[in-house]
Amino acid sequence: MKFLELKIRKATPKDAKSISYIWEVICAERIYTSVDKAFTAQQEREYISSLSEREGIFVAEVDNKIVGFQSLDLWSKVLNSFRQVGTIGTFILPELRGKGISYILANQTFDFARVNDYNKIVIYVRKGNERAIKFYQNLGFITKGELERQVNIEGILENELFMEKFL
Ligand SMILES: CC(C)(COP(=O)(O)OP(=O)(O)OC[C@H]1O[C@@H](n2cnc3c(N)ncnc32)[C@H](O)[C@@H]1OP(=O)(O)O)[C@@H](O)C(=O)NCCC(=O)NCCS
Repeated sequence: MKFLELKIRKATPKDAKSISYIWEVICAERIYTSVDKAFTAQQEREYISSLSEREGIFVAEVDNKIVGFQSLDLWSKVLNSFRQVGTIGTFILPELRGKGISYILANQTFDFARVNDYNKIVIYVRKGNERAIKFYQNLGFITKGELERQVNIEGILENELFMEKFL
């Protein structure tokens, strides 16, 4: 597929419906995220509105349609001692995977994080999500440990890896 135009920009509450749709698709796949139930447009709107200036979601638009996003949150919303640590999540619609969009999103997110005084990103990934693990390794994330039977999706327990990357 050839893109007419790929645009990366920061999400606003108006993007909540499109982001909620992506959650629906990825939650229905069942194997990639520990988010069990898609966030509704209303929940997503409230979440985007609640983010601090140092946080955000970057959306990828292809031909004016949002096809993926990457979120950056503070590791802790309450403890100032963790202010240099962020966490991210990356989600691309199935038909647009394998085209490098997630890497372009990550460049944007990391630039934003550096400017906003983060020095490290920490993530959790389901152990069976080999594609995401490969993606994060390619970005320089190192696996620091494994949590056993951490995620419960429909009664099936799965381990999670935690990974970190210094910016
Ligand atoms: C993970 C994700 C964001 C990566 O985005 P993407 O732009 O599609 O990137 P790709 O998956 O094509 O590329 C990631 C790497 O995984 C590799 N890969 C693809 N399929 C793979 C598989 N089944 N097993 C292992 N590696 C795989 C690719 O070759 C690529 O490596 P390369 O760049 O060295 O070639 C995207 O696949 C996605 O949205 N997945 C579903 C949601 C998800 O898992 N999010 C992460 C939750 S923590």
